[in-house]
Amino acid sequence: MSVARHLGIDLADYDQRIRTFIPHYEEMLDVVAGAVRLTSARQPTIVDLGIGTGALAARCLAARPRALLIGIDSDGDILAAAARRLRRSLKRLRLIHGSFARTRLPKCDVMVATLALHHIRTARAKHRFYQRCFRALRPGGVFASGDAFLADDSPVTEQFLATWRRHMARSYSTRQARAFLRSWAREDRYFSLGSEGAMLRAAGFRVEVLWRRAPFGVLLGRKEHVG
Ligand SMILES: C[S@@+](CC[C@H](N)C(=O)[O-])C[C@H]1O[C@@H](n2cnc3c(N)ncnc32)[C@H](O)[C@@H]1O
Repeated sequence: MSVARHLGIDLADYDQRIRTFIPHYEEMLDVVAGAVRLTSARQPTIVDLGIGTGALAARCLAARPRALLIGIDSDGDILAAAARRLRRSLKRLRLIHGSFARTRLPKCDVMVATLALHHIRTARAKHRFYQRCFRALRPGGVFASGDAFLADDSPVTEQFLATWRRHMARSYSTRQARAFLRSWAREDRYFSLGSEGAMLRAAGFRVEVLWRRAPFGVLLGRKEHVG
């Protein structure tokens, strides 16, 4: 499904509307993009999973001016928007139209994602996906994902959702905010930070929480050098 349909917006409005939906959106992107500095590769290959309109990719390219950035997205229209935003960096950009769940993941030094991996709906599929990410990363590789992470405990999840609705209440009525969250929950799966960290660890990563403003957070996974 297209991003515009999933979010219930016009694609041209994405960059403005996403801020009304996601608290601390820019701060989260800055933290994920900051993780690209953790690789020691001189000309790192960075893969952006679910590149969207390219807001995260632009930050990654600014942080590592010699990097090659490969953006993967299943929505052709939003890939075109990313190409427009990143037109000054076209020589350092490759775009892949396809699902990160199925397409071959390119060998790389860094993998980043924001608000994209919640589209993987089962723990089994996510675990397999993290194994594929681990294999695609070179030794010393860095994985960073910013997303919503709810709780295993339902009263805590309720508190997290109330925080999320309070942010949306700046732009929408309570009814609209609840309707958006209900509609996204039909397609998205927000694991807890603990479960997500455990899945990354099971795939082989050393895991850190880089940033948390519940219900949003940034998880870091490191693939250690061998020997
Ligand atoms: C909410 S947007 C986030 C975009 C961008 N990373 C940002 O932070 O603004 C989610 C993006 O992930 C893409 N996406 C969702 N599932 C995908 C999949 N299985 N494979 C590739 N892209 C996917 C969507 O098309 C969309 O562009």
